[in-house]
Amino acid sequence: MMVSDYTAPPDWAGLREAVKSCMRCKLCPTRTQTVFGVGPEHAPLMVVGEGPGADEDAQGEPFVGRAGKLLDEMLKSIGRTRNDNVFIANVVKCRPPGNRDPAPEEAEACRPFLERQIELVKPRLIVALGRIAAQRLLQTDEPLSRLRGPMHTYGPDRTPLFVTYHPAYLLRAPGEKGKSWGDLTQVHRY
Ligand code: URA
Repeated sequence: MMVSDYTAPPDWAGLREAVKSCMRCKLCPTRTQTVFGVGPEHAPLMVVGEGPGADEDAQGEPFVGRAGKLLDEMLKSIGRTRNDNVFIANVVKCRPPGNRDPAPEEAEACRPFLERQIELVKPRLIVALGRIAAQRLLQTDEPLSRLRGPMHTYGPDRTPLFVTYHPAYLLRAPGEKGKSWGDLTQVHRY
């Protein structure tokens, strides 16, 4: 996998601008707009998804479609909202055409942005939604079945990180919702 030597701007304003004008991978020409992320800049909880879908590409905000509504419900059940205490971001900031998975080189090109967001937010806990976010944040190819369950850590600060199902998967497999709700009760400990 290509290792990026790009350094993302160190502050929020510079970072927002760099994401907005980014042309670092082949997702850029097909996007309507970039989807930076949303939430308080020092939220105690950070949730990371995969990448924008059609709704997010149109509105410029992560998780605003059906999966986003479910995510909001799940967060509400543990007293969290994107306006108050959760920062929501994605592995890639531009929509992969046809909602395909982001390619490894696309995730890699976008990695400095996500890393900087995490560094600036300094969350007490990170929740990775689904396989792509989990694998990219933990830099592993392990399957979701192995990554969901144990508590992990992210980065040199060893920020606690756990993995749960992506809400889009839960829409397809509603029987699994209980497990994800159970996962989220861990948030109370942080
Ligand atoms: N799925 C994601 O992973 N992210 C979004 O922003 C929307 C849907």
